[in-house]
Amino acid sequence: MNRRYRVVVVGMGKRGMHHALAFQANGRFEVAGICDIDPVRLDAAAAKLFGVVKGGNALQVASAVKPDVFCFCTLPDLRAEMIHIGIQSGARLIAFEKPVALNSREGMEIKNLLAASGVKAVVSHQHRYGEHYRKVKEIIDSGALGCVHTVYGTATAWMMHNLSHLIDYMRWYNGDTAAQWVMGQAAGGGKLADAHPSPDYIAGFIQFANGVRGVVECGAGAPDVPEVDYWWRKCRIGAQGTEGFAEVLTAGGWRAVTKTGATSGGGRMDYDLDMPPYIQQIADWLDNDRNVHPCNFESAYAGFEIMMALCRSAVNGGQVSLPLADTADEIEMLRVHLTGHRVLFTPVNAKEYDQQSMGIV
Ligand SMILES: NC(=O)c1ccc[n+]([C@@H]2O[C@H](COP(=O)([O-])OP(=O)(O)OC[C@H]3O[C@@H](n4cnc5c(N)ncnc54)[C@H](O)[C@@H]3O)[C@@H](O)[C@H]2O)c1
Repeated sequence: MNRRYRVVVVGMGKRGMHHALAFQANGRFEVAGICDIDPVRLDAAAAKLFGVVKGGNALQVASAVKPDVFCFCTLPDLRAEMIHIGIQSGARLIAFEKPVALNSREGMEIKNLLAASGVKAVVSHQHRYGEHYRKVKEIIDSGALGCVHTVYGTATAWMMHNLSHLIDYMRWYNGDTAAQWVMGQAAGGGKLADAHPSPDYIAGFIQFANGVRGVVECGAGAPDVPEVDYWWRKCRIGAQGTEGFAEVLTAGGWRAVTKTGATSGGGRMDYDLDMPPYIQQIADWLDNDRNVHPCNFESAYAGFEIMMALCRSAVNGGQVSLPLADTADEIEMLRVHLTGHRVLFTPVNAKEYDQQSMGIV
């Protein structure tokens, strides 16, 4: 019987609880410590996770527990500091939430910290475990689309919420091929003040090294996904080839048209279904270095660089080569570029982006 890995989870909000409960439900893990600066949330979490060490200071909790896995699910403004604590705690793997960071300066710092420490890391792009996401991948890999030339993704929610997901699954559908350059545009500065600071709308092109073109748009100007009712899950991701296309809708199943005809099927993004395999593959990677987790940091970082390069292109114009050779604060660059600019939004997105009706301008 393999031993159980001890876990500390920091940030007991929505995603922290998802992680803690999924670790606890898996026989290969034991949640040994939890942390939140909000004592009410901390106590509520502790009541569901009996016998854990709890506290409001992540370094103290992690130092007391000495976990195998340090997991943090804080909002995007807290990343490098937690990576430092995870490494200091002696953990063998750090599991954290998307986005990787708010800018390439912090993203590169995290990359260097992890590389120097040798600690494994995973980033939670867990939608890919959905049966509908996997079905599209299976169709692409079967060759039924012929020669794939385009991968695409759209989402109505803003960049720091959803672009990280879109790019991750587009990269996956394209065999995790490296990107060579991107070119992007952005509009609207309303969401730069959000806890997930973002341009209201960002769109662009990605050139992958295998010749495949990525087309992506995220936020206010993104099109409706009329097949899906729930606004937060109006995301469409797919691939087109010489003989057809296949696409997934985050809350609306999948469909494909190939030489043999049209097919479709169900599937909805569901945390209860997506978290268990994500967590199990953490145990698999800890057990054996060869079982590299599909949501490994290196892959997430490649997607993060694409997102940051799109921001730079939106501010400076032109194409941006990848990998990035230097670092910057892309959100600050966008703040200078976009503050006071109002976005033109797709009607279905009015509730989130109509600043006039919200009394902001
Ligand atoms: N992968 C997904 O599908 C998915 C879905 C939703 C959110 N997310 C991401 O998950 C992250 C967290 O989102 P959420 O909705 O769970 O947020 P949340 O606000 O519900 O939870 C964050 C928690 O972190 C705590 N916190 C803040 N600073 C802390 C500190 N220094 N030490 C300890 N605790 C601290 C807060 O008190 C809060 O309880 C975000 O990055 C978000 O983008 C991912």
